[in-house]
Formats: sequence, C-alpha cells, structure tokens
Amino acid sequence: MTSPWTQARRAARMNPSIIREILKVTEKPGILSMAGGLPSADTFPVEALKAACDKVLSENAKEALQYASSEGFGPLREWVAARVKALGMQVSPDQVLITSGSQQGLDLVGKILCDAGAPVAVETPTYLGALQAFTPYEPIFTSLASDDEGPLPEAIAKLPHNAPGTRFAYLLPNYQNPTGRVMSAERRAQVMAAAKAAGVPVVEDNPYGDLWYDEAPPAALGSLWPEGSIYLGSFSKVLTPGFRLGFIITPPELYPKFLQAKQAADLHTPGFNQRVVYEVVKSGFLDQHVPKIRALYKANRDAMAEGLAQHLPPGCEWQKPQGGMFFWIRLPSGLDAMALLDKAVDAGIAFVPGAAFYAHAPDPRSLRLSFVTLTPSQISEGVAILGRVLREALNSGEEPTP
Ligand SMILES: Cc1ncc(COP(=O)(O)O)c(C=O)c1O
Repeated sequence: MTSPWTQARRAARMNPSIIREILKVTEKPGILSMAGGLPSADTFPVEALKAACDKVLSENAKEALQYASSEGFGPLREWVAARVKALGMQVSPDQVLITSGSQQGLDLVGKILCDAGAPVAVETPTYLGALQAFTPYEPIFTSLASDDEGPLPEAIAKLPHNAPGTRFAYLLPNYQNPTGRVMSAERRAQVMAAAKAAGVPVVEDNPYGDLWYDEAPPAALGSLWPEGSIYLGSFSKVLTPGFRLGFIITPPELYPKFLQAKQAADLHTPGFNQRVVYEVVKSGFLDQHVPKIRALYKANRDAMAEGLAQHLPPGCEWQKPQGGMFFWIRLPSGLDAMALLDKAVDAGIAFVPGAAFYAHAPDPRSLRLSFVTLTPSQISEGVAILGRVLREALNSGEEPTP
C-alpha cells in the first residue's frame, strides 16, 4: 500500500547519526567502546544534584514546576554572562538564551541563519552533530582547509571569492570534536581578522573548553569580534548531559529571532533543571569539580597515548590532544576505518570511523577514539585490541586501497 504521507524536502536530507548507530552496537555487553563521547559517569555530581533538587523542591517548587520564560532562568543567565568573562567576553545576560543542550543551539542557528543554497563554512573535519543540525535547512557547506590547529586563515579570507554570501563559519577552537585540536592564540587572532575582513561572522561552539589537561586555552573567538560572533556553551561535559542544559550567546540584534525560534521549538528549557543547576553552580562548585574531571581524563588521555604508541602499527599518525575527549587517528595507506569497524566490534572494541565528520571528501583512513568513558586499564586493553585488528588487516592486505 502506498503511504498517505508526503515528507518535507528537509526530511529527505536527514540521516541517522553514525555515532548513534554505533552506540547501538556498543551497548552489547563486553564491548570496550571508545566510540561515543559519553562523559565518565563517575564525574556526575550526584550528591550536589540531589541536595539542589531537594532545595529547589522545598523552597521554589511552584515556580520550578511551572511553565517558565523562553529566555531561561534569570539568575542562570546572569551566571553565564559572568562566567564567560574569564574567556574575554563582555556580554549582557540579555544576550544569553538557555537552550536544551548546545545541540539545540545549533538547530536554532540553522533555523535563523541558513537558507536553501546559502553557503555555510565548516572546518575539515567538523562536528557531525552540527552537520546534522544545519543540513535540514539546506545550506551548501564549504569545507575550510584546516591543519593541526584548525581552519587556515587564508581559507576564510577566500570565502567572499569561493563562496560569496557565506552566512557564517562554524568553528570549534577548543579540543575540537572529532580531532581534539586546539587553536593557538595566534591562529585565533588570524582567523578572526580574516573573518572580519571577509565579512563572515563566526559561530563558536565550545563544549570542551574547560577540559584542558596541560594549560588553559586562549580567549574565546567571540572576544575578538563580539558583533560578528555567536557563542555556544554546555553544562554537559562539566556537570551532566542528562539535564540537557546549554546556552547560546548572540549579538543583541539577533536575540529576538533566536528567542522566537526557541519558543516555537519547545517554549523553554525545563525550568526545574535550570534552577537545580543554578543552585549547584552559583557558589563556585565548578571551580572544585572541574579540576577533578580534568585529573581523571588526563590520566585516561595519558593511558591512551601510551597504549597507542605501544600497540598501533607503523604508519598510523596521531597527536596527543591537550584537552577534550578524543584522539584522532590516521591509519596507514590501504586501510579503511569503516571497513574495519565490524572486525573491531567482533574483536571486542568500537570506534567511530572518521568519514562521517566531513562535509566533503571524507578521509576513509581516519577514526576517532574517545578516552573518557573507559578506565585506564580498559583503554590499554582496547587499544591493544585495536592494534591487533589493524595489524591483521595490514597483513591480510584485504582492505581496499583508497
Ligand atoms: C562539538 C559539540 N557541540 C555540541 C555538542 C552537543 O552537546 P550538548 O547538547 O550536550 O550540550 C556536542 C556533544 O558532544 C559536541 O561535541
């Protein structure tokens, strides 16, 4: 029987996230998954959240359980505006919109700024979830040539020529997902100068900025060109992703449109969650909590760096990330990460093939490994298995050479 439903054009453009598909496989017991970027559950501040839930329900139950304002809980917006000062940003709480995760912020960006056929510039590679969020709004992606520090300033400078009318460049300066790379202060200055000269505003996505293991990252891109910047932040990596709490900071002229889009999407972010999180963070909790997360993840990162050096066959390339959650591996010529995934899962490990993170010309030799979900000994075991899978594939020579 033919379906009575006709889907919108944008629905045809939507694809399942490969990460979600892989997570289904990795939920099988016994798999050591380095695929999903799931924060370690040991970092969730259960006691602090419990006490805050109790306090909110004892003292403000009626307000917390009622519909609330679309902008977000006022004291939390003020807290956000004060917190981003440390990143060199001077913003008013009126520019802060609390979102249901920063992922919703990305969707709102797509809704307000993308049009069918209008160019949007992205890093090479870039965050898969942003490609997913923007794609239904039918932009044409321009992949910015990038190196170990992120996008090249000259690639941004060329946008008016190569992709006139580019709506924005979507950039991840801190411990990028998927590569783990960080932009130096010098690169930030060059990139933002090029963006300003080209008249291309920047959407800065920064969920990982607090997760640095060696030294804190330089100031936010938004500090370098405030009128030309939108900033996205998240509580997912420093508290819990389960509350789905993030924020977007927009220039004042754009705020009313983002607010309307937010209202249409879900009226407001759950008020209870916002009050609970505010209760937790208002007196400096993150200043004690985040260093504990850093210490845990740093040990994991070091275990993975050691394991990779020990077990991966010659010809594999990677950098030790200075923060965030991921190693980005380039396999030797002749190997295809996607083709190896089934073998890897059969052998007891999972990773994300890198191809999904490219808007164009996917690199089949790349893969992403997360080091935050497993323990250091599981990481060592997992990386040893990965090494075996890669050596077998190299020895059998059966993978197609790209
Ligand atoms: C780069 C990046 N942006 C945004 C998100 C979405 O985060 P959340 O919606 O949990 O704030 C993620 C999640 O992993 C991410 O890696």
